[in-house]
Amino acid sequence: MEISYLRISVTDKCNLKCFYCRPDNQEFIPHEEILRYEEIARLVKAMTKYGLRKVRITGGEPLVRPQIENLVKLIREIPEIEDIGMTTNAITLKHHAEKLKEAGLDRLNISIDSLKPELFHQITKGRLEDVLEGIRMSKKLGFDPIKVNAVIIKGLNEDEALDFVKFAIDYGVEVRFIEMMPIGQGYIKWDEEMVKPLDQVREKIEERYGRLIPSTSIGSGAARVYEIPKLGVKIGFITPISNPFCDGCSKLRLTAEGKIKLCLRTDEELSVKEVLRYGTDEDLDEFLRKVLIAKEISNLNIQKSNYAFSDCVRVMTSIGG
Ligand code: 5AD
Repeated sequence: MEISYLRISVTDKCNLKCFYCRPDNQEFIPHEEILRYEEIARLVKAMTKYGLRKVRITGGEPLVRPQIENLVKLIREIPEIEDIGMTTNAITLKHHAEKLKEAGLDRLNISIDSLKPELFHQITKGRLEDVLEGIRMSKKLGFDPIKVNAVIIKGLNEDEALDFVKFAIDYGVEVRFIEMMPIGQGYIKWDEEMVKPLDQVREKIEERYGRLIPSTSIGSGAARVYEIPKLGVKIGFITPISNPFCDGCSKLRLTAEGKIKLCLRTDEELSVKEVLRYGTDEDLDEFLRKVLIAKEISNLNIQKSNYAFSDCVRVMTSIGG
C-alpha cells in the first residue's frame, strides 16, 4: 500500500468558534507537546519513501501558529513533494498570503459556511469581510485553484447553495459542499437532523444551471467534482453520510502533538513523536512500516462498519478536517 497524501495539523487553537467544531471547555495541547516544524519535515521526508507526494497543512487554524511559512519552506525543500496545500478559515489570510506564496504554498482551501455576514457570525463568531479580503488578495497573488468549503447544515444555510455557486463564478474559485459529520463535536452536538443530503443540493443547482458534468480533475478522492458546462466552474460534493468514500482510502492525518491518525472516523492513532524526537532514521522507517500495515487493517474494518456513526471522540479542531 502507498500513502500519497498526509494532512498535517499544526495546532489545535483556532481564532473562530464554529458551533459544530469547537467545544466549550476545550483543553489545549501544552506547548512542549506540539511537534516542531523540523520534526514534521523529517516525517514528511521519511514518508516520501512510501509514496507521499501531497501534503495539506491544517489546524485548528494553521495561521495562528507563528511563522507557519517556515514549515511551508521546509517541506518545499523536499523534492518528492509535488503539492502543498493549506486549509484555513482565512480570517487573517490577508496578513499571511504573500509570505505563504513566497514560501512555496501551492493551494488554499478556505472554509465559509455562509455568505450572509450575520449568519456567518452566528455560526463562527467571526467577520465574513475578513475572509473575503483574504480571498481577493490570494487570488491577486495567483493562488490557483482556491477552493471554498461550505458545510451545508439543514435549516441554517441550505438555501445558500446557489449563492455559493454564484460566488464561485464571481470570485473565480471552486466550491465544495460538505455534509456535516458526527465527528469532533462542538458546543452544539451533532444531530442527524443537521445533515442535508447533498444530492438535493445538486438537483437544485442543476435546475438553475442545467446538467452538471463530472470533472476529469483528480483530487484526493473525497470529493465528487462536477463542472457547469460553458461557465467552467467546478463544484465538489463531499458526502460522508449519504454516500461514503472509504474504499481505497490512502490518506493519513498527523495531529499537532504527533499522533498519526489512521481514519477520520475512529480514534485509532499511533504516536510518532517519540521516534521523531529520540529515534534514528531506521527507527522512523520501521515505525512507518507499522503504520502502513495498521492503515490496511483499519481500511478493512471500516468497510464493515456503519459510516454514519463514528467512534471518534477527538475534537475536530485538533484534527483539522
Ligand atoms: N463535518 C463536516 N465538516 C466539518 N468541518 C469541521 N467539522 C466538520 C464536521 N463535523 C470542516 C470545516 C472546514 C474543514 C476543515 O472541515 O468546516 O471546512
